[in-house]
Amino acid sequence: MTKQYHDHVLSDAVLGQLFNDARTYNGWLDKGVSDDQIHAIWDLMKMAPTSANMQPVRIVWVKSDEQKAKLAECASEGNQDKIKAAPVTAVIGYDIDFHEELPWLFPHADAKSWFEGDEEGRKQGAFRNSSLQGAYLILAARAVGLDCGPMSGFDEDKVNDTFFADQPRHRVNFICSVGYGDPETIFDRSPRPDFDKFNSIA
Ligand SMILES: Cc1cc2nc3c(=O)[nH]c(=O)nc-3n(C[C@H](O)[C@H](O)[C@H](O)COP(=O)(O)O)c2cc1C
Repeated sequence: MTKQYHDHVLSDAVLGQLFNDARTYNGWLDKGVSDDQIHAIWDLMKMAPTSANMQPVRIVWVKSDEQKAKLAECASEGNQDKIKAAPVTAVIGYDIDFHEELPWLFPHADAKSWFEGDEEGRKQGAFRNSSLQGAYLILAARAVGLDCGPMSGFDEDKVNDTFFADQPRHRVNFICSVGYGDPETIFDRSPRPDFDKFNSIA
């Protein structure tokens, strides 16, 4: 039976954990993230929607000191120590050839044929939907009690060469550290715009 959640607004505590109190962390408590927790993040984020269920995201979870050092070398100066100190940093990439997986991911239509011969369309779809999946990752991590530090300050070509060398059709979108955030390392909350500033209802 399909569950009916639609009449239920989540509690303030849950909304706080996901949005209102959740922050971007620049440093981490000395507490690890287990592989089970990483799997739990994936098992939530994969349920959120992507176009034609294309699921273009491809993630390398960088946990070992050796791989952290390699990722840090690809990053801007301000991000290097954050990556080395984080328990894990997700390299959130996308597969330009995601359409090869569509026969099983979207079995009720011949969606693979929609993208064949249209590399530009695939790149656009992969970037759009992997960006969504990166956002889902952040919310899933928060939902299981973890904190995030997303980053785009890195050399894309270097990250692709280092982490997707064996997958030349994969490209990095952004990276995101995950762990238990150190409250000492957050900035003051930046202003958030009221509805009327960037919205209209037509
Ligand atoms: C895609 C993305 C890229 C970001 N890149 C960087 C970065 O390279 N370095 C950094 O220190 N912060 C980076 N940030 C952090 C943002 O500045 C931060 O999330 C934002 O100011 C909101 O902070 P808050 O969640 O604490 O309110 C990035 C955030 C996102 C979502």
